[in-house]
Amino acid sequence: MAVSKKNFKRLIVALDLEDKKKINKIVKELSGYIDRFKVGLIAYTKFGPQIVTQLKSKGFKVFLDLKLLDIPNTVINTAKIFAKMGVWAFTVHLKMGENSLILLKKELTTFCRKNELRKPFILGVTELTSEKASLKNVLKLTSLASQAGLEGVIASPQEAPFIRRKYPKLKIITPGIRLPGCREDDQKRVSSASFALNYADFIVVGRPIIKARHPLAAVKKILSC
Ligand code: C5P
Repeated sequence: MAVSKKNFKRLIVALDLEDKKKINKIVKELSGYIDRFKVGLIAYTKFGPQIVTQLKSKGFKVFLDLKLLDIPNTVINTAKIFAKMGVWAFTVHLKMGENSLILLKKELTTFCRKNELRKPFILGVTELTSEKASLKNVLKLTSLASQAGLEGVIASPQEAPFIRRKYPKLKIITPGIRLPGCREDDQKRVSSASFALNYADFIVVGRPIIKARHPLAAVKKILSC
């Protein structure tokens, strides 16, 4: 089955690698097909802000997934640096609490307006997809994101339909994507890409693509299942 151009653009590939040669090979192979890469703890710890700059210079949008969880002053000042770096979106744990999230949104918006910067999307992490989680808890955390005016949430594909129905304006980003019958690694709440894309705005996929011998072929297979 041919993959629509639109669905390629809804895939974010997680560059969870510390081998620069491999990263470069994947980025080159997927160039022209996808628009966004996710830089998480592994690549950011190894390469620092440079990897963000490099991806941006090649025309990609960068999703910086460092899952911030700290007191407001620390998170807000870190978020301002992310804005100066020009990241497309970044993540915070919704467990930060409603007041901290409201303050983050307000301060970052003012900072970006004053400095004529594009405000990155703030995405709230509900429950990690590597753990079992109750829908009730995920929805409770999602309500914090909505009340604080965040742009979206990270949740598993299994909760995505419920979030979509209750919070139609929030962007939903779902990791935990696996080919039917394939290894789930440490992920617990998984689904196929086509199920997730019925509800999510974007899906995030790492190992099934970055560990594949032919990443582009893996992308096409994942998006057609
Ligand atoms: O390799 P895999 O496809 O499991 O990668 C999923 C990516 O999404 C990883 O980079 C992981 O850190 C991230 N993530 C997740 N679950 C969340 C939030 C982010 O798996 N709730």
